[in-house]
Amino acid sequence: MRITVVGSGYVGLVTGACLSDLGFKVVCLDKDEDKIRALQEGEVPIFEPGLKELLNRNRADGRIRFTTDACEAIEHGDVVFIAVGTPASEDGSADLGHVLSVASTIGRYLKGFKLVVNKSTVPVGTADKVRAAISHELVHRGMSPDLFDVVSNPEFLKEGAAIDDFMRPDRIVVGVDEGLHHARSQRMMGDLYASFNRHHSRTVWMDVRSAELTKYAANAMLAARISFMNEMANLADVLGADVDHIRRGIGADSRIGHSFLYAGCGYGGSCFPKDTQALVSTARAYGQTMSVVAATEQVNERQKLILVDRLVQRMGGDLRGRKIAVWGLAFKPNTDDMREAPSRMVIRQLLLRGARVSAYDPVASGEAMKALRLDFADDAEHLERLGMAAGEMQALQDADALLVLTEWKNFHNPDFEAMKALMRCPFILDGRNLYNPEALAECGIAYQGVGRRNDLVQWLKFEAVPEGLAHALNDDHASAVSVNA
Ligand SMILES: NC(=O)c1ccc[n+]([C@@H]2O[C@H](COP(=O)([O-])OP(=O)(O)OC[C@H]3O[C@@H](n4cnc5c(N)ncnc54)[C@H](O)[C@@H]3O)[C@@H](O)[C@H]2O)c1
Repeated sequence: MRITVVGSGYVGLVTGACLSDLGFKVVCLDKDEDKIRALQEGEVPIFEPGLKELLNRNRADGRIRFTTDACEAIEHGDVVFIAVGTPASEDGSADLGHVLSVASTIGRYLKGFKLVVNKSTVPVGTADKVRAAISHELVHRGMSPDLFDVVSNPEFLKEGAAIDDFMRPDRIVVGVDEGLHHARSQRMMGDLYASFNRHHSRTVWMDVRSAELTKYAANAMLAARISFMNEMANLADVLGADVDHIRRGIGADSRIGHSFLYAGCGYGGSCFPKDTQALVSTARAYGQTMSVVAATEQVNERQKLILVDRLVQRMGGDLRGRKIAVWGLAFKPNTDDMREAPSRMVIRQLLLRGARVSAYDPVASGEAMKALRLDFADDAEHLERLGMAAGEMQALQDADALLVLTEWKNFHNPDFEAMKALMRCPFILDGRNLYNPEALAECGIAYQGVGRRNDLVQWLKFEAVPEGLAHALNDDHASAVSVNA
């Protein structure tokens, strides 16, 4: 069986790389010429641990190649994956433009039987639209409209651990509908994933509509757990409880489990925000409401700004003359993906309030600048107060506060004494609950996590910064900070 993957982004590249590593001959198609040229030259346009090595090894062995030639690509595969983006439209519904454009392309070039496998996250009913688009082209070409089947195979990989997730799946969801090609499609999907089912079957077979909805249900459930814990953390904050104890206390219940119970400054990424919105929108279109999912998204939007709210509580709303350090820009560690990253909203608010921002991310600084330039397209002058630091310690120089937004491993155990010496005010707002409040209290650093014992915080009295004061001139730490023991 030969494989074509249409869309060479996070999902398409990981799918192509992993299937080629399992021995299949893979062609990856994308309409982005720069991306394909880079891939042909051995460059990988995204940061995903292990992906570059996997792609280059299989490229060198002749098992995977990259093209913008749709005719050649569609001809190659017995199985054609659709792995293009399904961004949110203005009204929150999933924009199927890319998916349906690929479907038309498949119909335009298809010659013999093709199994079309949809891996993009799409609303229920999309497979029917894909079928209609392909059939339309076939009829137009005077061919039989039955030369293909469409199955659903949603992807559950996590960015940052995508190769491992693909190669060691918890489960593989495959939706195949009754019909002319049912047996053939089921056999082909079985053969495709046989390597993962040798010990025991990980494939969960179902109909196409159920498979399409399963993906949304999974993301909505995970997002809801995070928003639930964020609300719990905000309550713990005012009650003097510690959400980290609560997390352990409930996670130990086997009915609940430990995963996705971490409170913080909100989720981002290319999936949870758009998929929860799309699910709410699908329900609305069918006269239903999804109150839990809608609330999940609302809570998250508020939570993304929780650190700014706290900063403003301590320093006042006018941040002119303040310098704020930010550690972590990507929406999560081990990726450079900036889609819906909380850092974008946080930095926007800080800059609009007049602060200078000194940010650092181990891999996402370049992508972050691109994303922020888009966010500030209408008020680009604010970006003059944003600097990307060369390292985490450089970002702290003369800072009035540090906001930790992404839990990169190298932020886990920093040298707190050195940090304190560098900062104008030793104040850490930890959006990922990385640090021990007691240790920081001992160190004389004002620390606030999300839902962590406020009573341990040694509050700083932030003196007003005279308007227009240049930070570089103010190197007298002691005069700017008084610590209430
Ligand atoms: N990123 C994730 O972690 C993840 C996980 C599971 C599911 N998904 C879903 O998978 C889908 C793809 O997501 P992604 O993050 O890989 O997207 P992406 O934006 O990284 O990649 C999509 C690629 O498709 C290409 N493309 C668009 N239209 C095309 C066309 N007509 N022909 C050829 N190429 C075309 C784009 O140029 C781009 O390179 C989405 O529906 C997403 O929701 C993503």
